[in-house]
Amino acid sequence: RTLPLLDRFGRVGRDLRVSLTDRCNLRCTYCMPPEGLPWLPDEQELSDDEVVRLATVAVERLGITGIRFTGGEPLLRRGLVDIVRRVREVQPDRGRLGLSITTNALGLTRRAEDLAAAGLDRVNVSLDTVRPDTFQQIALRDRLHDVVAGLEAAHRAGLGPVKVNAVLLRGVNDDQAPELLRWCLERGYQLRFIEQMPLDAQHGWDRSSMVTADEIHARLAEEFDLAPASEPRGSAPAELFAVDGGPATVGVIASVTRPFCGDCDRVRLTADGQVRTCLFARDESDLRTALRAGATDEELAERWVVAMRGKAAGHGIDDESFLQPDRPMSAIGG
Ligand code: GTP
Ligand code: 5AD
Ligand code: SF4
Repeated sequence: RTLPLLDRFGRVGRDLRVSLTDRCNLRCTYCMPPEGLPWLPDEQELSDDEVVRLATVAVERLGITGIRFTGGEPLLRRGLVDIVRRVREVQPDRGRLGLSITTNALGLTRRAEDLAAAGLDRVNVSLDTVRPDTFQQIALRDRLHDVVAGLEAAHRAGLGPVKVNAVLLRGVNDDQAPELLRWCLERGYQLRFIEQMPLDAQHGWDRSSMVTADEIHARLAEEFDLAPASEPRGSAPAELFAVDGGPATVGVIASVTRPFCGDCDRVRLTADGQVRTCLFARDESDLRTALRAGATDEELAERWVVAMRGKAAGHGIDDESFLQPDRPMSAIGG
């Protein structure tokens, strides 16, 4: 029996994003401070068995049809390949369960083949620049070369269509949008530009310095012919544009200026086993404690269903009363 993850606004959760760790090996300035953050203690992090158990409940009892593993940086999770393999065994039909990761691609050269063999379908890679000096300036590590190699490995392993996510920062890389697009087009990656959201650990986000979707579109339109893509968008965050007549596309994720919350089908599980109904949720539902206290699959599913009733209509970034959530993006999973 499947209980749908229905919220008060009639939306149904079908896409589960599971954070496997809150740690990261880069230090992107728009995400976390140079010294890092106080990471979750080991005993609070779900074990591999616990992650697989909750993912199984989500797929078998709650109608989840897609799982994306995120972080922090999910490649830092030792058990990643095993977790993917075990979740794939729950539903071998890729048409019924899509499995993907969102990663910075560091170390992907060593894992791409194993991940594909374990049953992963796709990877999305975060990359904001293809210039080594700008990469160092944003991520505070000199690792552009490894990211590029990781992308190539994912592409070769068939983990595609490979998508690249980029955040533009004013005065840092906002002049590099066309060159990043050209670079992705040459390699067959789908590039998506993301508007920066108030989810940084430092609480330094400022609307007036955010590079908007309209600005990005205008800058790209100076050098490319962009036409709204014909495929229906569904619940996807990205608006897609065919580039120079297609078939290649570029995406813009306008979370702030054109929110897509009305069609949201996402639900999140943090690395410490809390259900979050929204990136911007103010409260969470603790499945870890219930799980460790011996709850049955049915009880876990019921708790999850109840949690969904607390999902807000939208992120409320424009509301007078908006408060940034306590957890930063790196601890929620992007
Ligand atoms: P695809 O299945 O490939 O379309 O994945 P995706 O775009 O849903 O996942 P990805 O992790 O690549 O997300 C890219 C970016 O979209 C994230 O980093 C966020 O900035 C943004 N995003 C994803 N989900 C949400 C969401 O639920 N709300 C908002 N506001 N932004 C989101
Ligand atoms: N706003 C928008 N995107 C963000 N990312 C990290 N922090 C933010 C933010 N505050 C992006 C990363 C990565 C994805 C997981 O989320 O660049 O592409
Ligand atoms: Fe869904 Fe919240 Fe993202 Fe809006 S901000 S799309 S409601 S998760």
